[in-house]
Amino acid sequence: MSTQQPIPSADAIRAALAEAHAKFRDVKEGANASYIPALAQVPSDLFGIAVVTADGQIFEVGDANYAFAIESISKVFSMALVMEELGAEVLHDKVGADPTGLPFNSVIAVELHNGKPLSPLVNAGAMSTVSLLPAASADKRWSKLLAGYSRFAGRQLAVIDEVYTSEAATNFHNRGICWLLYSYGTMYSDPMEACDVYTKQCSVAITARDLATMGATLAAGGHNPVTRECVVAASNVPPILAEMTMEGLYDASGDWAFNVGLPGKSGVGGGILAVAPGVLAIGAFAPPLDPVGNSVRGALAARHIANTLGLNVFGGRIAG
Ligand code: DON
Repeated sequence: MSTQQPIPSADAIRAALAEAHAKFRDVKEGANASYIPALAQVPSDLFGIAVVTADGQIFEVGDANYAFAIESISKVFSMALVMEELGAEVLHDKVGADPTGLPFNSVIAVELHNGKPLSPLVNAGAMSTVSLLPAASADKRWSKLLAGYSRFAGRQLAVIDEVYTSEAATNFHNRGICWLLYSYGTMYSDPMEACDVYTKQCSVAITARDLATMGATLAAGGHNPVTRECVVAASNVPPILAEMTMEGLYDASGDWAFNVGLPGKSGVGGGILAVAPGVLAIGAFAPPLDPVGNSVRGALAARHIANTLGLNVFGGRIAG
C-alpha cells in the first residue's frame, strides 16, 4: 500500500497547463514590485507556466523561457544548502521553523521573538541562514550558493546585473534587519556581507522551466530528475516542504494551503512554485503581485493545475 499519488498522464498535464494559461492570461489584477526599481520595468503581461515531473518530463506553456529574478524563492534553496552542510537541527535551532504571521520583511517579527528570525523563508531568517553557510569569504559563500542553485536547476545560473545593482542600491530595510539580527546574536557573519550575498541570491535569473525543475528536485526527494544528480539528501526534503507550507507565501500561507494544498514559495519577481511530493512541481511566472507580494496569475494558475490534477498533500489518497 502506498500513500503516494501517481504521476498524472502527459495529456492530463498538458491540458491542465493550457487551460490555466488560457483562463488567467487576461487577469489584470496586481502590480509589479516597485520597491526594487528594476522589477517595476519588467513587462507586466508576461505569463509562463512549466511543470516538471518527478520522473523528469517537462511541460511548458506561454513565456516559460523568459528569465526573471528568483527573489524570495531563492530562500528555499539556500535553506536546503545550509541544511545540507550543517544539518537540519542547526538551522532549526538558530533560525527556527515557525510562521511569523507578518509581512516578509517585518522588523516587528524579529523584535517580538528576541531576535530569533523564526523562519528561513522570511527576509530576516533568509539573511541569518546565508550567514550560517560555512565559507572562508563572502565570495566563496556566494559561489557555493550559486553552484547549489545551478545543480537544482540543472544548468549554470547567473545573476541579472541590473536587478542586483538596483536592489543593492535600495536595500536599506534589509541592511537594517541584518544589523538588528547582529545586535541579538543571530547573524553569523559580517552583517553587510550577508545582506549582499542575500541580495545577489535574489537577483539570480531563472525561467519558469528552471523553477519547475528546481521544485521537481524536491518533489523527487532531492534528486534532480532531469540531470539525475543528487542535490540534497532525501532526509532534508520533508522539513523544507513543511516550512514552505507554513511560510512559503508569507501571511497568505494559510489561504494557499487551504486552496492549493501544496508546499509553495513565491518571489516578488513574479515567480511562484508549488511542489507535489513524489509527483511534480509547478513553476509559474507573471510579474503583477497581490498586496502580500505573491504573483496573482501565478497563484491562480498553480491552484488551477493542482486542483485539476488532484494534487493535494492533505488529500489522504491511498493508492495501490
Ligand atoms: O529582500 C527582498 O525584499 C527581495 N529581494 C525579495 C522579497 C521577496 O521576494 C518576497 N516575496 N514575495
